[in-house]
Amino acid sequence: MNQSSFSEYLTNPSFTGKLPEQLFSGWQSPSNIALIKFWGKRPGQIPMNPSLSMTLQLAFTQTTVEAILCDGKIPEMVINGDPSHPFRPKLTRFLSWLAEQIPVLKMYSFRVETRNSFPHSTGIASSASGLSAFTLCLLSVAAEAVSLRIPEEHLLPQASFAARMGSGSACRSMYGGYSVWGKTEMIPCASDLEALPVSGIVHPDLRCMRDAILVISRKPKSLTSSKGHETMNGHPFAACRTAQVNSHFLGMLEALKSGDLEQVGLLAEAEAMALHALLMTAADGTVLLEPASLEAIQIIRNSRSHGLPLFFTLDAGPNLHILFPETNRVEVESFIENELVPLCAGRLWICDYTGKGPERIGEITITDNYPA
Ligand code: PMV
Repeated sequence: MNQSSFSEYLTNPSFTGKLPEQLFSGWQSPSNIALIKFWGKRPGQIPMNPSLSMTLQLAFTQTTVEAILCDGKIPEMVINGDPSHPFRPKLTRFLSWLAEQIPVLKMYSFRVETRNSFPHSTGIASSASGLSAFTLCLLSVAAEAVSLRIPEEHLLPQASFAARMGSGSACRSMYGGYSVWGKTEMIPCASDLEALPVSGIVHPDLRCMRDAILVISRKPKSLTSSKGHETMNGHPFAACRTAQVNSHFLGMLEALKSGDLEQVGLLAEAEAMALHALLMTAADGTVLLEPASLEAIQIIRNSRSHGLPLFFTLDAGPNLHILFPETNRVEVESFIENELVPLCAGRLWICDYTGKGPERIGEITITDNYPA
C-alpha cells in the first residue's frame, strides 16, 4: 500500500455497539540506522530529502498499552507508572494528533509501559523504536475497540503513515530489512507520507549486514532531533545538501542492488560526515562528536587500509555504528573488542544486525537497564 491514510472504518466507525471497558496491545519494534540521513523537514513532517535505512534486530523498544474506557472522566496517560514521565509531552502530542484522526481513541485513558533494550537519546534512534511501538499499540487497540480486524500487511503501512508524525525515522522501523522514506524520482512509489520496504531490490549478499553499535557516551544528547532538523531552515549549505544527498541516495541504491559493500560503506560514511558537518556549520555550531568518536573513526579507517571490511556511520550523537558483512563477523568482532571497545562508555557495545521488523508481544520481557 502507498500513500495510506487510515482504514475508513477506524476514522469514521459506524460502530454502535458498546465499547470494551479494557483493551490491551503489546508490540516490540526495532530501531533503524539511516544509511542516507533524513535531515531537515517541511511543515507536516515532510522530509527535505529521501532517506534510506536498515532496520536493526537487537536495539528495540517493547511497549504495552492498556486502554481503559474513560466513562465520562477526562482521559489521561501514565507512562511506566509515572504521570510526569519525560516522554509524556511527546507521546501526548502524538496521541492528540492521532485521536483527531481516530476519534475512538478519545474514549480511553492509557497505561503505557515501555522499555528499551539500549540507552535512549544517545544517537541510537530510540524515538524510532519508541514511537513505532507506541503507534502500533494505539492502532491495534483502536481497531479492537471498533471490532475491526486489520491484517498486518495493512496495519504496518498505516502505522508507518501515523508514526511519521511522532518521529520521522519511526516510519522506517515498520519494516524489516531496508526502508526508504521520502519522495524521489529514483523510486516512483516512494512517498513523503510513509516508508516503503525496499529489501526486495537489495543484493542477497547485503540482505544481512552486521551493525556493531559502539556506545561512546551514555549521556543524553545536547540537541533534540527536532532542534537539529530546524537548523536546516536557512542553513548556508542547504542547497548543496540537497544536491549531495540525492547523489548519495542514487549511489546507495545502485550499490545495494549490485551488492557493492565498499560503495555502501563509503556512502554511509560520507552521509555521517555530512550530517555532522551540517550540524557544526549551522548557526549554533553544534558539536555532538566526542574525542573518542573521532579516535574510533581513525582506527576504523586505518584498519580498512589494512584489509578489514568495516565502515562506520553516525546518527545525531557521538556513538558509532560499524557496518560489516556477516561473512567477516569473527575477525571484525574480535578487532572491535580489542581496539574499539576500550573507547566505549563502560565498554558498552551492541552486536546488532539487519532486523526482521516489529512483532506483537503479550508482555514486556526485558528489564530496563537504561532508565530515562
Ligand atoms: O526521526 P527524527 O526526527 O528523530 O530524526 C532522525 C534524524 C537522524 O537520526 C539524524 C537521521 C535519520 O534519518 O534517522
